[in-house]
Amino acid sequence: LENGVARTPPMGWNTWNTFACNINETLIRQTADAMVSNGMRDLGYQYVVVDDCWFDPNRDGAGNLQPNLSRFPSGMKALGDYLHARGLKFGIYQVPGARTCAQSVGTYPGSTGSLGHEVQDANQFAAWGVDYLKYDWCSGSGTINDQVASFAKMRDALRATGRPIVYSINSNSFHCCTGPQRSWTDVSNMWRTTEDITNRWDTGNTNGYPMGIKNIIDINVPLAGHAGPGGFTDPDMMVVGRGGMTDTEMRTHFAMWAVMAAPLIAGNDVRSMDAATSTILKNSRLIAVNQDSLGLQGVQVSIDSGRRVLAKRLSNGDVAVALYNPGSGAATMSTTAAAIGKSGSSFTLTDAWTGATSTTSGTISANVPSHGTVVYRVSGGGTGPSPTSSRLVSSSSGR
Ligand code: DGJ
Repeated sequence: LENGVARTPPMGWNTWNTFACNINETLIRQTADAMVSNGMRDLGYQYVVVDDCWFDPNRDGAGNLQPNLSRFPSGMKALGDYLHARGLKFGIYQVPGARTCAQSVGTYPGSTGSLGHEVQDANQFAAWGVDYLKYDWCSGSGTINDQVASFAKMRDALRATGRPIVYSINSNSFHCCTGPQRSWTDVSNMWRTTEDITNRWDTGNTNGYPMGIKNIIDINVPLAGHAGPGGFTDPDMMVVGRGGMTDTEMRTHFAMWAVMAAPLIAGNDVRSMDAATSTILKNSRLIAVNQDSLGLQGVQVSIDSGRRVLAKRLSNGDVAVALYNPGSGAATMSTTAAAIGKSGSSFTLTDAWTGATSTTSGTISANVPSHGTVVYRVSGGGTGPSPTSSRLVSSSSGR
């Protein structure tokens, strides 16, 4: 979406994965303070997104949304001010239908969705200083055309406020997950491509709830051609630091989100991170790959027994390469400089995890542990045509 924001994938934090409806302004403020003091803000994590359940179950007499005052007694404008004063940005949640997802399943009372209130709500959000809206399709019915119309209505309402607001949408199971997917770049800055993530490697679900890291990667990799500045595929908020997976799997999760140009929205409790979690979320080499100004999603250049090689062209001519091994044993994985769009006879490889450098005349290879991902930044030589998503069509997408 050409609305001036999200030229690179949005980065930040969201309440839902850890706290669901158990949210309040103290939690948000403590999280914001932690993101400043632990360095996350300065690494680019700037959007603090308050997901479902922040609102009062009733609109006021004029039809305006109101915060849940027992949990947000200072109000949403004050919360936005608190974030802005710390160099962060304010994200909020709403839905196009009558009920949010928590309201739909009955875990939260009321019926305060934006249906029939789109312009009023967009204006309210702008007045509160909102910088990011997550708009979540929670209705159990509707066609794809209904979805496009509903999401476009809020897009237009946000645009009319004149405030730059990142527009993040979730069309939920209507497109998910085995069929062809629509690119929503005409409608939004980022769009969910899968069912909800959970902190497991593989739930076995490729078209159901919830999905593990491997399942999500299988769905999102083939969508590389849809992404670019202003519009990114969203394989869901991260579960790094939520347990349930090995450190190797957590590193793969972060590395693949980085190379897929996915929004990097942390979902753990960032007030209390262990060292491994902190090291993963704050890997500045992978963040640089993710935030590269070309905004390209890494494309698959080969697949062998499920083991994928992805290449993401970067603005300075370097190419980031991911060697992703979902197999049950370690494997030597290889590609070549030519296959990732580089020309020349001497290249430097920088390992994104260790920082170690090595040189090669063309072979790019590593022994990759089971469920691991090695990422190299490949520099030197010239840059030929970018690896394109058309390669995805000719090589198996693995779905
Ligand atoms: C469904 C979304 O996929 C989740 O990320 C979260 O926003 C919940 N809805 C909130 O109810």
